[in-house]
Amino acid sequence: MLENKIEQALNDQIAMEGYASFLYLSMASWCEQQGLEGTSQFFYRQSAEEHDHMMRIFRYILEMDGKAVSPEVKQPPQKFESIQKIFDDVYEHEQKVTRSISKLVELADEMDDHTTYQFLQWFVLEQREEETLVRSILDKLKIIGDGPQSLYFIDKEVTMINEREGGSPGE
Ligand code: FEO
Repeated sequence: MLENKIEQALNDQIAMEGYASFLYLSMASWCEQQGLEGTSQFFYRQSAEEHDHMMRIFRYILEMDGKAVSPEVKQPPQKFESIQKIFDDVYEHEQKVTRSISKLVELADEMDDHTTYQFLQWFVLEQREEETLVRSILDKLKIIGDGPQSLYFIDKEVTMINEREGGSPGE
């Protein structure tokens, strides 16, 4: 059984993960329209992963006999300035998610909810990996640049990173 406060915080996290899934889907669409096939595949995969994160929490709440809430759909931006701006935004968003997960961990700890505390450890690790992944792409962008001539090379780099991370389940 979950305390109301924890259940509410977990449902807020569901909404955050759901939004991330739609945000990355929007980025995938924009990248595909720009002819950045590899980068769009990267974002389809990220979108699917965020959906998986959302469902992990959703299933957990129900397993704990709570009420999992399907979140409101807020439309993410449809247009993006540049590849650099996209990855800056992704990094910022992932840091926000990390802070939110940390607060959830703190709350579970304060409320002596060891089961939720344990459940959240997977997310702590996942966030660390996601931030590292995005930072590695930002580092590449710093070297390659994001001018028109660089886009081909960026797309190739992101394709390689995507394949290393496990392909493109977005298809
Ligand atoms: Fe599930 Fe990338 O936050």
